Amino acid sequence: MGIGELTILGIETSCDETAASVVRRHADGTGDILSDVVLSQLDLHAAFGGVVPELAARSHVSTLDRLVSQAMTESGVSLGELDAIAVTSGPGLIGGLMVGLMTGKAIAMATGKPFIGINHLEGHALTARLTDNVAFPYLLLLVSGGHTQIVLVKGVNDYERWGTTIDDALGEAFDKTAKLLGLGYPGGPAVEQAALSGTPRRFRLPVPMRKDPRLDFSFSGLKTAVRQMAEAQAPLSQQTIADLCLAFQISVTSSIDDRISMALERFSQRFGTESEPALVVAGGVAANKSIRVTLESRASRAGFRFIAPPLNLCTDNAVMIAWAGAERMAAGLPFDALNLAPRSRWPLDQTATTVIGHGKRGAKA
Ligand code: KG4
Ligand code: ZN
Repeated sequence: MGIGELTILGIETSCDETAASVVRRHADGTGDILSDVVLSQLDLHAAFGGVVPELAARSHVSTLDRLVSQAMTESGVSLGELDAIAVTSGPGLIGGLMVGLMTGKAIAMATGKPFIGINHLEGHALTARLTDNVAFPYLLLLVSGGHTQIVLVKGVNDYERWGTTIDDALGEAFDKTAKLLGLGYPGGPAVEQAALSGTPRRFRLPVPMRKDPRLDFSFSGLKTAVRQMAEAQAPLSQQTIADLCLAFQISVTSSIDDRISMALERFSQRFGTESEPALVVAGGVAANKSIRVTLESRASRAGFRFIAPPLNLCTDNAVMIAWAGAERMAAGLPFDALNLAPRSRWPLDQTATTVIGHGKRGAKA
């Protein structure tokens, strides 16, 4: 099916970012971001040390209309020129998803344009095709506040989950560690910053899942180990906090390095390495420099191109939702009916078995 240029409005409200964007996909598979509007609710939730679903939903309700019209205005595209409306329909917080879906459906109904419900994880998974034109298949490491997954991206709508967390997501582990050490929320940047002045090797923590052939992750034991060390050192000096942060960061970085090196090997065995394969990272934890540098060197040693989309496209946004809509439309996948329901859980790989404890928080992706 020859499909030409597609212009899509994307809407994202699955967690604590309200976002709208217009993206254009060209017939050759490249794309342009015509607008990208994101309103973070970080300040709203900071006092609670995590996302409060009810507050998130209310904030989406009161801001989404304005953000959508801002995204339309900035794009220079009229509603009539759109080819479809793409909205995150899961996984995420139901209240927020409902706000996005209602708005998207209303626009689709008023304009008579097709409506597409997007899996938020597919948005993360396909972003690198917009930013770096990556060809299928490629390997994705998604590390955010709600998800920690290694995914084989074989094509649009075609994913294999190779590994996931059996307990906490990596961003969640950073957040909890920060909290127990008395650092602020979100914890990732605070832990990374503190680790910069840490004393190497003062504390040693185990490397979770090392050499485990399943490619899964586990971070809750590590958090407990940090808590026990912290209790033994109480009252905590600034230096001890920094030393614990460094030990924690080294341990999670080594665990990721170990898991990814096995995944790259498995990828190479299956697909070969002639056509320079790619390792793509996505999610807020991709901001962490030590994790980024480790992934980059692991990828290059294994003969992989390392792709980290710009940070604003790694964290939650609506560009990735509009783009996933365009990719799905270009692939000839069907549109959705206007009675599409939100899904709090929605694995990318429908054949993957549920891992105990995985996604129990289910709020962020
Ligand atoms: O993708 P994201 O913005 O939101 C969702 O989870 O959907 O990711 C947020 C997570 C938080 O847990 C935050 O602590 C973590 O990413 N994070 C980091 C860093 N910056 C953000 N973790 C480690 N190091 C960082 N520099
Ligand atoms: Zn996300």
